Amino acid sequence: MATWSNFNLQNSASPLMEQIIFFHDHTLIILIMITILVGYLMINLFFNNYINRFLLEGQMIELIWTIIPTITLIFIALPSLRLLYLLDELNNPLITLKSIGHQWYWSYEYSDFNNVEFDSYMIQYNKSTPNNFRLLDVDNRIILPMNNQIRIMVTAADVIHSWTVPSLGVKIDANPGRLNQTNLFINRPGIFFGQCSEICGANHSFMPIMIESVSIKNFINWINNYS
Ligand code: CUA
Repeated sequence: MATWSNFNLQNSASPLMEQIIFFHDHTLIILIMITILVGYLMINLFFNNYINRFLLEGQMIELIWTIIPTITLIFIALPSLRLLYLLDELNNPLITLKSIGHQWYWSYEYSDFNNVEFDSYMIQYNKSTPNNFRLLDVDNRIILPMNNQIRIMVTAADVIHSWTVPSLGVKIDANPGRLNQTNLFINRPGIFFGQCSEICGANHSFMPIMIESVSIKNFINWINNYS
């Protein structure tokens, strides 16, 4: 989860988020190189007194400063496309979780298991204990097994919401009357947090997502004892 003053991406808990972070760093490096180069050129222009005799004719330099940015953009576009298609790929998901956005809470359905379903409300600050995560804790957590492909089906019952869990690299809109699909693979146990990220009304900030990642054995145990 995000802690105080963290301006970086959260640590990844899924292979796809890892790829997203690699891509972010890769693009940022290119951005820094461009900024340094352009900054150097601009500062240079300020501090010299030379006037270009051939101001209106410079075919070669125009060719160069057209082709170099094109090549640079290809270096960003190709990994970006790779990631885009990778994020959308589903590899034989073991279980499906359906999450439905409401004003202002999420409800979940495990349709593989005799339709286990529950609502997940944020624990209000005035009712929370020192053990709760402020504004992020919910009364009913999503329990998911780690090291498994999981399909997420996302929809909404009233307005548009967005099911977003940064550490798992998932961000997908929840639209009324539509069913969106994405996937995730959690590669370690732990608790992972997300929040709605589509401005959906007064309590938009107060419909957090809380995922508890457990071993497959514990997951089966939980789903068996679900009443
Ligand atoms: Cu739901 Cu913002």
